Order: sequence, then structure tokens, then C-alpha cells
Amino acid sequence: MMKFLVLMFAVFACSSVLLSSSDALEIGYYNKVCPLAEAIVSATVFKHFLQNRTVPAALIRLHFHDCFVRGCDGSLLLDVTPGGEVVEKEALPNKGSVRGFEIIDEAKDAITAVCGNVVSCADVLALSARDSFFLTSGLYYNLPTGRFDGRTSLASEAIPNLPAFTLTAAELKANFARKKLNTNDLIVLSGGHTLGRATCAAFTHRLYNFQNTSRPDPTLSQDYLRILRGICPQSGNPSPRVQLDKGTEFIFDNSYYAEIVKNNGLLQTDQELLFDQETSATIRSFAKDNLSFLKQFSQSMINMGAIEVKTAKDGEIRRKCNVPNSGRISSHATE
Ligand code: HEM
Repeated sequence: MMKFLVLMFAVFACSSVLLSSSDALEIGYYNKVCPLAEAIVSATVFKHFLQNRTVPAALIRLHFHDCFVRGCDGSLLLDVTPGGEVVEKEALPNKGSVRGFEIIDEAKDAITAVCGNVVSCADVLALSARDSFFLTSGLYYNLPTGRFDGRTSLASEAIPNLPAFTLTAAELKANFARKKLNTNDLIVLSGGHTLGRATCAAFTHRLYNFQNTSRPDPTLSQDYLRILRGICPQSGNPSPRVQLDKGTEFIFDNSYYAEIVKNNGLLQTDQELLFDQETSATIRSFAKDNLSFLKQFSQSMINMGAIEVKTAKDGEIRRKCNVPNSGRISSHATE
């Protein structure tokens, strides 16, 4: 299977989109020290994808939640910190919601078995998100690598950094701008909601008493409102999960935007983008042009993957993705 995957990815790499990247990162960073690293991640993600179609959604979201808190440094993967603080994965937006940690651990361990401890967990996570996009969209892009792992993870930093599902368009733009991502990145990356599901807890506030009006969110279509009320009764169980893209849950495509144009956006934050002057036209154009969305998603994932990346100066190559190395800073070249 490994040979097949290497070949498959090589073929797609030849026809992949050429995209710009950050200076600290480099395409093929591991070519010398661990030429099989990317193929091992691909094979691991593919194996899990064959067992569970929801894996790509999990890994793309895991990468997003990692990058928005302390940069793309694998801080979300940690179970412990040197200072014994409560870690990011225990914070409200993450706990019981983000998933896929075991896939990252498995890929990292498989790479270490072949090459030693030379590939960062942050890169394994970023590559797994890239491969998840490929498996669900069919479009491949080269991902710059060379991220180092952080040594700290603080639950208290999750809520101030991760966008809440009740933010206005202006607040979403400001949240992304703090990560040096522009409004186009916001529109494009929100398209990650073409995959996966949300619990009733994330949108029931729209269904009955939106913003204390005793009425539902007026931007929600009547048909969709009826369906959602059937799944999420008022004061009912907050746990049922509804697909974020009413059209196609497992295919990475533009139907998420087509549904928003029909007022069938599940999250308030997604629907918001149709009514903001600056974002509305792009939402409508993505609704009609799948390839343009997919190409821009590739570039915005590269942009997101470059948020506050750590280097050998302030990071390490973790031996185990859930535990920081004890006190010592390692380097890609020497371990
Ligand atoms: C723009 C601000 C965003 C907000 C407010 C937001 C909010 C949410 C919420 C509330 C959920 C459901 C969680 C649950 O109920 O368990 C969710 C799921 C998801 N989000 Fe976002 N998100 C945002 C941006 C993004 C971005 C940038 C990506 C990736 C590029 C992303 C990818 C996903 C995916 C794939 C899922 C489904 C996960 C699964 O099924 O396991 N989101 N998001």
C-alpha cells in the first residue's frame, strides 16, 4: 500500500497547484533527513480514512485549532506541560470535540521508527490536514514544512484565540487579522465546513430565541429551520450532530457556499458572511465555481499553516506528540 500511495501522491504532485509560502518553511524540508516522511503521513491518514470517512474533517479542524493558539506548533497535541498547567485540549472549544490525536501519534511513531526523531509533530499534523483535503477534494498541493514543536499548551489561551460561533462578520475578520489572515482567507477557510458536523449546542441558539427576540434567526430558511428544530428541540439534548454542509458532508466542494446562498448555513458565523458587504460577493462566486474555491483553499491552508511557526531557536522536535521533551531543545539535523 505504501508504494501505491507514494506513486499516487507523486502523480498528483506533478499536476498540483503552485502556491506561495512563508520564508521559515520550505517544500520538501524533510527530503534529506527523512524522504519517506510525507508518504508515511499520507499512508496513515489514508488507512484511517478507509476505516472512517469522518477522519478528514477531524484532522483539518485539529490543524486549525492548533494554528490559532500559539501558532502551528502542535500545542494542541500536548497532554502535559513542563509547568503542569491545564492544556489546550481541555478547553471548552476543544474538549470532547476535536479529535484525531491518535492518528497523528501513529504517523509520528511510524516516521520515528524509520528515520529517528527528525520530523516535528506540528508538521505531521499540517501534512495530515493537507492529505485530508486531497482525499476529499482530489486536489493536491505542496505543503511547506519545517515547523518546530512548542513546549507549552494553555487551556486559558483557547477561548481568546479560537473564533466563537456567535461572532459577527466584523469580529471574525478581526480574529483572523490577529493571525495575519485576511478577509479572503476567512471566507475560504470557513469553507472547511464543507466537511464534518456540529452539535446542536453550536446552533440551537438560532432556532428559538435568537438574540432574545423570542424568534428564530431570520436569516435561516424556513425549510431548514423546520428540519433543525426536529433534530434539536428547545432545551433538548445538545449532543446530536448535524452536517455543516447541508449538501455534501464527505466531499470537499463548494456546496457549502451554495447552501449559504440558499440561507441554509448551519452556523451563525457561516451565514453571516453572506450578509456582509465585503464577503457576500465572494461567497456567491464560490457557490458557482468549485475549482476556484479549491485552489484558494489550498493557498489559505498554506497561509494558515504559517501562523507563528517555531524554529530551532524556540522549539523542539518532540519525541512523543503528547509530551514535551524534558527540558532539552533538539534540532532536526542532530536527532
Ligand atoms: C471562522 C470561524 C469558525 C468557527 C466559528 C467555527 C466553529 C465550528 C464549530 C462550532 C464546529 C462544531 C463543533 C462541535 O459542535 O463539535 C466546527 C466544526 C468544524 N470546523 Fe469550524 N469554525 C471556524 C473555522 C473553521 C476553519 C478555519 C476550519 C478549517 C479550515 C474549520 C473546520 C471545521 C471542521 C472540518 C469541522 C467539523 C469537525 C468534525 O466533524 O469533527 N472551521 N467549527
